[in-house]
Amino acid sequence: MAASTSFPRDFLWGAATSAYQIEGSPLADGASPSIWHRFSHTPGKVHGGDTGDVACDHYRRWREDVGWLRELGVNAYRFSISWGRFLSGGRGRPNPAGRDFYSRLIDALLEGGIRPVATLYHWDLPAELDDAGGWVARDSMHWFADYAEAAFQAFGDRVPMWATFNEPWMTSDSGYLRGVHAPGHHSAAEAALVAHHLLCAHGGAVQRFRSLRRGAIGVVVNLEPKHPASDDPRDAAAAVRADAYMNRQYLDPIFFGSYPVELRECFGADWPAHDERDFELIGQPIDFLGVNYYSRGVTRDDPSDLPMRAPRASVPDVERTGIGWEIYPDGLREILVWVKARYGDLPLYVTENGAAYEDPGPAGDIVEDPPRVAYLRRHLAAARQAIAEGVDLRGYFAWSLLDNFEWGYGYSQRFGLLRVDFADQKRTMKRSGLFYREVARTNGRVMIR
Ligand code: FCB
Repeated sequence: MAASTSFPRDFLWGAATSAYQIEGSPLADGASPSIWHRFSHTPGKVHGGDTGDVACDHYRRWREDVGWLRELGVNAYRFSISWGRFLSGGRGRPNPAGRDFYSRLIDALLEGGIRPVATLYHWDLPAELDDAGGWVARDSMHWFADYAEAAFQAFGDRVPMWATFNEPWMTSDSGYLRGVHAPGHHSAAEAALVAHHLLCAHGGAVQRFRSLRRGAIGVVVNLEPKHPASDDPRDAAAAVRADAYMNRQYLDPIFFGSYPVELRECFGADWPAHDERDFELIGQPIDFLGVNYYSRGVTRDDPSDLPMRAPRASVPDVERTGIGWEIYPDGLREILVWVKARYGDLPLYVTENGAAYEDPGPAGDIVEDPPRVAYLRRHLAAARQAIAEGVDLRGYFAWSLLDNFEWGYGYSQRFGLLRVDFADQKRTMKRSGLFYREVARTNGRVMIR
């Protein structure tokens, strides 16, 4: 539909990564261990016992990787700063080697005409801060704001766009409730408290940014339209609860100054009392919202799945990517339109979207990955449709530049536009990378059919 609609001029065509997933050398040159370093070194936590010790060796190969970004022709690159590499132990003055690493990376990006988009927290809390209570401690909001301020001081003259947190819901849910991500806790009470501290930390960082720098700051959330698994009204109610938990838990406090009522009901005694004054901090105006989108969430009622009683339902006979996630491109359009309708007309970016497949090995200097090309094409069409419906979408970042350490899945899932051979670190362009290059070069016209 609407073949005449195209992407706006100055649209950002980017690729995304995160520190722990690509850098390797997690303890080099004064860097301190993160909770993911610890978690991945704990037997049984990550598929195959994989760790981020080497990952894509980007800490040493960053120059080559900037070369690949140029080869891809993207005009933006979203990366994250490793807190414990930049501030050893998470507090105090910058670790010179860590600061220089990001500083050189940023300079190389700018030289190549690539806009640096920095995420402050992509899940790698310094282990020392975890020992001091981690995100359960109210002090975490101050640790984070101090870290953010140091990063704005060091890089804010050259980084025009900042995200405070990547997918805070994953930290509270996977990290503190389900225990499948670092730090591996299993507590509803902690998950609710952590969500609140993450929000306060976000607001504190936005405040510091305003007092120091010009430029754009926002937050990146992972959103999914929640669809009931059946016509049963109990499933419909479950989908509303799942929506409150995943989609509104973080955005309602930022935009409306309060949590969705469903959360208090479901968490019951585990729901904390909140200091009303915190909501002023949380509600600092932001310049953009980043949306990560992979799939929709088909939801069913299940009283045993606490606290929300609304787990994901398995949907038979649908198309899936290699990691098993349903391919549902229209969900991207739906969720972007929903954000605008609910929270107002603010600039949006798709800050992650992509697919894992078991790619074939390289054939010469190319990896043929037609399923990933199709996934990207269909999701880009959905993004364009959202623009046609009035969404102020300003950019799209493919996840990911490189095959990398996919958290609990280790190296078993490949999301890259470039293949990484983890035995010798050789990068090989995939067909999807070439496709994306054409998309970026033509500002999306190549995928209009
Ligand atoms: C998102 C994460 C990113 C990557 C993708 C596949 O939840 O932000 O680091 O793992 O999923």
